[in-house]
Amino acid sequence: MIDKIKEYIGEAQAFSTQTPAELEAFRIKFLGSKGLLKEFFAEFKNVPNEQKKEFGQVINLLKTSAEEKVKSIQEALENKEESKGFYGDLTRSGEPVTIGSRHPISLVKNQIIDIFSNIGFNVSEGPEIEDDWHNFTALNLPEYHPARDMQDTFFIQTDPDILLRTHTSSVQVRYMENNKPPIRTISPGRVFRNEAVSSRSHCIFHQVEGLYIDKDVSFADLKQTLLHFTKEMFGKSKIRLRPSYFPFTEPSAEIDIYWGLKTETDYRITKGTGWLEIGGCGMVDPNVLKNCGIDPEEYTGFAFGMGIERIAMLNYQIGDIRMFYENDVRFLEQFKASI
Ligand code: DAH
Repeated sequence: MIDKIKEYIGEAQAFSTQTPAELEAFRIKFLGSKGLLKEFFAEFKNVPNEQKKEFGQVINLLKTSAEEKVKSIQEALENKEESKGFYGDLTRSGEPVTIGSRHPISLVKNQIIDIFSNIGFNVSEGPEIEDDWHNFTALNLPEYHPARDMQDTFFIQTDPDILLRTHTSSVQVRYMENNKPPIRTISPGRVFRNEAVSSRSHCIFHQVEGLYIDKDVSFADLKQTLLHFTKEMFGKSKIRLRPSYFPFTEPSAEIDIYWGLKTETDYRITKGTGWLEIGGCGMVDPNVLKNCGIDPEEYTGFAFGMGIERIAMLNYQIGDIRMFYENDVRFLEQFKASI
C-alpha cells in the first residue's frame, strides 16, 4: 500500500498541463470527495499500528504534493489569461490596414502635370479668390465687355472687385507679372461659376491652364504641343483647332480631338460626330502681354485651357460630374488601383 502511495506521489509531482480541464481532472482524481486521498485516509484505520506512522507521512506528502501542484498550475494558467487580456495574443498577425485612394481629379491632374513637365513646363498656382484685374481686366476683358457674361461670376457681395476666379487664366496674368520670358508653365486649379448643377456641369470644377511665352513662338508650336498632349493622355493622334473667340487670345481656337465612333458610348459622348471638344486655346493677345509687362514686339506666346473633369469623365467613363464632389466611398474606392 505504501509503495502504491509513493507511486502516486511521483505521478502528482510530475504532472503538468496547459488546460484548466485537465487540471480539474487531476484535482478530482487526487483531492476530490471520492478521490484517492479520501480513500487512503479511510484506509488509515485498517493499517497495522507499526506502519501507521510511515503511512501517515506518505499520505500527507501525497496530499501536499497534489495541493501544491494544483495551486501552482492554477496560478500559471491565470497569469496566461491575464496577459492575454492585457496585450492580446502577441503572436497573432496584424489587422489589415485599409488603404485610401487618390481622387480621380488628382489622378488626372498628376497625369497632365507629368506629360507637360516632360516637355519643360513647370507648375504654377494662384489664389481661388481673385480680383477683377487678374480674372478679367488684364485678360483684355475691361468693365462692360460683353464677353464677361460668358462666365457667370460669383462676386463677394461686399466688394465688387473681389470674386471667385472663373478660370485659371488668372494665373497666367500673375505668372507673367512675376516672371520674365521664356515662360513655360501649366496652372491646374479649382474654378467657380454660377451655373445650374446638372450631370454635365457644376458650379465648382477644375481647369488646367497652359502658357508658353518666348521669342518666335508660333501657332504651329501650339498645335504640336496639344497634339503631343492628346497622344500621351488619350492615345489619340488626330486633333482639330476650330476657329473661336476668346478676348485674351488672337487668333483663338477650340480644341477638338478625334475620339472615333467605335462604340455606342463614342456616339453618345461625341454626339454622333466622332469629335470631342476638350478646351480652348490661342496666341496670347498683344494687349494681354502688355498688361502683364511683357513687350509684344519682342515676345509672342500661346495659351490654352482645359477642363480636368471632362478629361477624367472620358478616361474613367464617368457619366455624372456630380460624382466627383459627393465623397461617396463606393465611388472613390474604384480608383484604388491607380496611383
Ligand atoms: N479661360 C477659358 C475658359 O475658361 C479657357 C481658355 C481658352 C484658356 C483659351 C486659355 C485660352 O488660355 O487661350 O473658358
